Amino acid sequence: MRSRYKPWAVEYLKTNTKNEFFLNEDAIEEEKILNFIKGRDTYLEIGPGRGQFILSIAAKFPNYNFLVIELDKSIAGSTLKKIDDSGLTNVKLIAGDFYKLSKILKKDLFCGVFLNFSDPWPKKRHEKRRLTSPAFLVEYSKILKEGSCIYYKTDNDGFYEYSLEMFKEYKWKILYQNEDYDSAKEEFDAETEFETRYKNEGIKIKRLILENTKETLKEIVEKKEETN
Ligand SMILES: C[S@@+](CC[C@H](N)C(=O)[O-])C[C@H]1O[C@@H](n2cnc3c(N)ncnc32)[C@H](O)[C@@H]1O
Repeated sequence: MRSRYKPWAVEYLKTNTKNEFFLNEDAIEEEKILNFIKGRDTYLEIGPGRGQFILSIAAKFPNYNFLVIELDKSIAGSTLKKIDDSGLTNVKLIAGDFYKLSKILKKDLFCGVFLNFSDPWPKKRHEKRRLTSPAFLVEYSKILKEGSCIYYKTDNDGFYEYSLEMFKEYKWKILYQNEDYDSAKEEFDAETEFETRYKNEGIKIKRLILENTKETLKEIVEKKEETN
């Protein structure tokens, strides 16, 4: 996500902590994170951008909790301010890298993971940064409860094909697949900033819902054993 660096937003992160959990080397608020997750059925969004999606869905579903993790500090600061201003108590933010978070999280925590318009990283040498590359699929399978889903949307054809291939290879069960998707027709969804932009440009949105099954986990364990 290309965005202008906003010093106020980075400062906001440091001084407004009501809806933020820390993931710094010296202050990983694991207990607080786990208490929030354990309180209610909780969904995780990785890379929320400025939070349009999460604020809409959290307002629609007040009985669920929503945790977002955003890598870019300036974007995270803007998002945190929006969360604070919304008055919603069921959304919390972590400013940091999901991969780092996944290493401290226990198994079977989330009821769903949202991957909305993740950066496609088209160059082969950047494959590891794609949020649907094998190392990430392993972490999702671990933190998601069995039978829970990844909710995936993208505008990008190459990234979509790659992701579909990876999900199939790691035996995620495809519950839903649509290459001309309209989130306005779905109850359990909301439009993201990028989605609004691409829809206005006439670009088709690709959507997948993938279930974490016993087979998924088995495949991941077997693949790990093969590479060791
Ligand atoms: C292309 S933007 C999409 C933003 C939003 N989801 C939307 O659809 O409008 C992708 C976002 O993911 C964030 N991101 C990328 N890798 C991440 C990671 N490993 N952990 C957390 N956030 C990440 C980026 O900083 C960026 O804000």
